[in-house]
Amino acid sequence: MTSVLYLATSGQVGGAERCLLSCASGLARDGRFRPEVLVGSRGPLLALLAEAGVAAHLLPLPAALRRTSRFHPLSGLAARTAPVWQAPLYARRLRRAVAALQPGLLHSNGLKMHLLAAMAAAPPPLIWHLHDFPLPDPGSFSNRLLQHFAPRAAAAVANSRAVAAAYAERVPALAGKLRTIPNGMDPDALAGGDRAAFRQRWQLPADALVFGITAILAPWKGHDVFLEAARAVHRELPQAHFLIVGDDVYDTHGHGRRRSQLEVRARDLGLADAVRFTGYLQDGLADAYAACDVAVHASTLPEPFGRTAIEAMAAGVPLVAAAAGGMLEIVEPEHSGLLTPPGDAGALAAALLRLAREPELRARLIAGGRQRVRERFSESAINAQWLDLYQELPR
Ligand code: GLC
Repeated sequence: MTSVLYLATSGQVGGAERCLLSCASGLARDGRFRPEVLVGSRGPLLALLAEAGVAAHLLPLPAALRRTSRFHPLSGLAARTAPVWQAPLYARRLRRAVAALQPGLLHSNGLKMHLLAAMAAAPPPLIWHLHDFPLPDPGSFSNRLLQHFAPRAAAAVANSRAVAAAYAERVPALAGKLRTIPNGMDPDALAGGDRAAFRQRWQLPADALVFGITAILAPWKGHDVFLEAARAVHRELPQAHFLIVGDDVYDTHGHGRRRSQLEVRARDLGLADAVRFTGYLQDGLADAYAACDVAVHASTLPEPFGRTAIEAMAAGVPLVAAAAGGMLEIVEPEHSGLLTPPGDAGALAAALLRLAREPELRARLIAGGRQRVRERFSESAINAQWLDLYQELPR
C-alpha cells in the first residue's frame, strides 16, 4: 500500500501537530494510504501517534537548526552559521530516510521541513502544508528560500484563505500551486468532558464563571490582553476565574520563559488567586473545555487558522475571538462566536461581561458553534479533501 510520509519539524504539540494527528489518524482509518510520520525532535507527539496506531520515526534535527527561527535568528556567529552547513547535511539524512521508507507522497509540516524536504529533492511528490503566515517582507530570508525551493513542491496547502492569499503575494512562485484546506475536527472528540473533576483538580469553585484561553504560550497569542481583560471582568465579577491552558512548547529561539512572565503579570494585576496555569495538557483537554463557561482567543497578530476556535465550538463552549486572519473564516459573529479587535483588552472585557450576563447568548453561541464545526470543519469531510489531493498527485 502506498504510504504518505508526514514530516514534522517538532515532536512538541501545538495546533499544527494536532492538525497533523488528525490528518494521519484519518488516513489510517480510511485505509487507502498508510500514514507514517518522521519527526525532527522528541516530544509528546510520538506517544500520541503511537496511540493513534501511526508509525513514527525520529530523525533529530541538530540543536542549532532546531532552535533557529525566521523571527529570531540565533545570536552569535557560530550559532548563526551552524544552520547553513547543518541544513544540507540533515537534508542528506532525510533523503536516505525517505529512500528507505519509500513513501508515495511527502506531506511536510512547518517551514523548516518544507525547505529541508525540498533540499533533499527526494523523488516522491512533496506537499507543503502551510500553517503560518509568511513574513510580511517578500525579500526576507525565509521568503526568498521558499521562493527558491517552491518549484520542488507539487502543491502547497494553506490552513486558511488568508494564509493562502499572503503566500500568493509574498512567495509568487507558489501562486499556481496553492489551495486551502482548513483544519478538521471530530465534532465528538471533545464532547463529554468532566467539568466537576477538572474544577476540583484546579481548585475552581463549582459555581464560578470560568474564562479560559488555550494556546501555546507564545507572545503573539495575547495572554497579556487576556489578563488585562480578566482584571476588568474580575472587578465586576469577583467570583470569576481565569484559566490559562498551554505551555511554552516550542524551543525555538524567541520562545521560552513566558509562563513565569505571565505569572508575575497576573500577580501584578491582583489576579494571583483568580488565575490558574495548567501548563500543557496531554490528556484532559476535553475536561478543561468542559470546565470553561467561555473560551477566549486573543492573538495580537492575525491567527493563521485558529484550531482552538473549532475545539471550543466542538466542546460546546461559547467563544470570543480576535477578529483577524483565519478567525474571520471560522466565526460568524453573534451566531457561532463573538469577535473583538485584536489587542483591545477593553473590547474583550466588554464581550466577556456581556456573555457573563446573558446566558441565552451563551446558549445561542454554543448551538451555533456546534453547527459550524459539523457543517464546515468536520474531520471526515476535511480528510476527504486531503485524500482527493493525495490521489490527484502523480506518483
Ligand atoms: C499553527 C497556526 C494556528 C493553526 C494551526 C493548525 O499552529 O498558528 O493558527 O490553527 O497551525 O493549522
